[in-house]
Amino acid sequence: MGTVVLGTGSCLPERILTNEELETIVDTSAEWIRSRTGIEQRRVSGRDEQTWQLAATAARRALDAAALDAAELDLVVVGTISSHMQMPSTACFVQNEIGAVNAFAYDLNAACSGFLYGLDLADKYVRADASLKVLVVGAEALSGRLNWQDRNTCILFGDGAGAAVFGHSEEDRGIVGCNFKSDGSLWKLLYMHGAESTNPELRLADNSGPFICMEGREVFKYAVRAMEESVRGLLDRCRLTIADIDYVIPHQANIRIINNLVERLGIPQGKVFINVAKYGNTSAASIPIALDEANRQGVIARGDKVLFCTFGGGLTWGASLITW
Ligand code: UT7
Repeated sequence: MGTVVLGTGSCLPERILTNEELETIVDTSAEWIRSRTGIEQRRVSGRDEQTWQLAATAARRALDAAALDAAELDLVVVGTISSHMQMPSTACFVQNEIGAVNAFAYDLNAACSGFLYGLDLADKYVRADASLKVLVVGAEALSGRLNWQDRNTCILFGDGAGAAVFGHSEEDRGIVGCNFKSDGSLWKLLYMHGAESTNPELRLADNSGPFICMEGREVFKYAVRAMEESVRGLLDRCRLTIADIDYVIPHQANIRIINNLVERLGIPQGKVFINVAKYGNTSAASIPIALDEANRQGVIARGDKVLFCTFGGGLTWGASLITW
């Protein structure tokens, strides 16, 4: 018995922005983007596609798949770094939109790791009280948080949302374990300022605006090493080996990061879900979108050991394992 996924859902904005179009916006080439990142295109929000709106649609689809009514939810958690408002949280907008009238709701800021940190929270709540139903969403509209003149970042990110509903099952399956870590001393490798302070004493001398800033090459190196360590630590703790893993759903940041990671771990390419070409890096939304696609395509089967791994600003990183 354990904490299981009762249903998944996702939502992507309509508008597709191709690498070729980016060539006309910033000093880059479609071929550079394709070969250095694996990204072919990404989705960009339009009117009525705010973070909370994408999140609410993904949430409704997850509830439909779980055959649950929103009123049955006890908790709504949204992992995001691109809320359209500082307050209230995106989770409160989602709660209101879907009618989760019996839930409490809050956001979780762990950048790209937001969904997996939320999964861990859901597991802890459900283990404490088996009657609880928890909705975890990863949602971003990062197109509004990019400097479109900065080719180091604007070519990488995309918008979207993914969601999963968690609850208890008496069956012999569910979340096996999680292994997370953060290192705030490395924050300068990947960050985004908020609005500038109205208190002159608290103004930041180096406020570069509310855009994503990144030391890409450094982040790349840390990402591969840190995720490898998390996966190995998690498997040791669960007394499992790489051979026990049936499927891997990694954070979709860069095809080269994914390939490097699975090669170091000795995991065959055929066991890895990759959709970075279609959506780019959707931060907290990347894993739940990939999970929803893998689930709906039927590539993960009941009883499979499914491994997730993530890395993002903070720095935050880690791995989770579910017996599906
Ligand atoms: O979600 C978690 C957080 N983010 C990540 O995981 C991203 C991690 N990092 C990466 O994915 C990669 O480091 C990038 C895709 C960001 C960059 O790829 P790279 O192979 O590490 O390139 P680089 O930064 O070492 O730059 C190589 C060259 C540089 O030119 P010089 O100095 O060699 O002349 C860059 O100026 O590529 C240049 N460059 C570009 N050229 C064309 C950087 N960005 C671009 C661009 N188009 N968009």
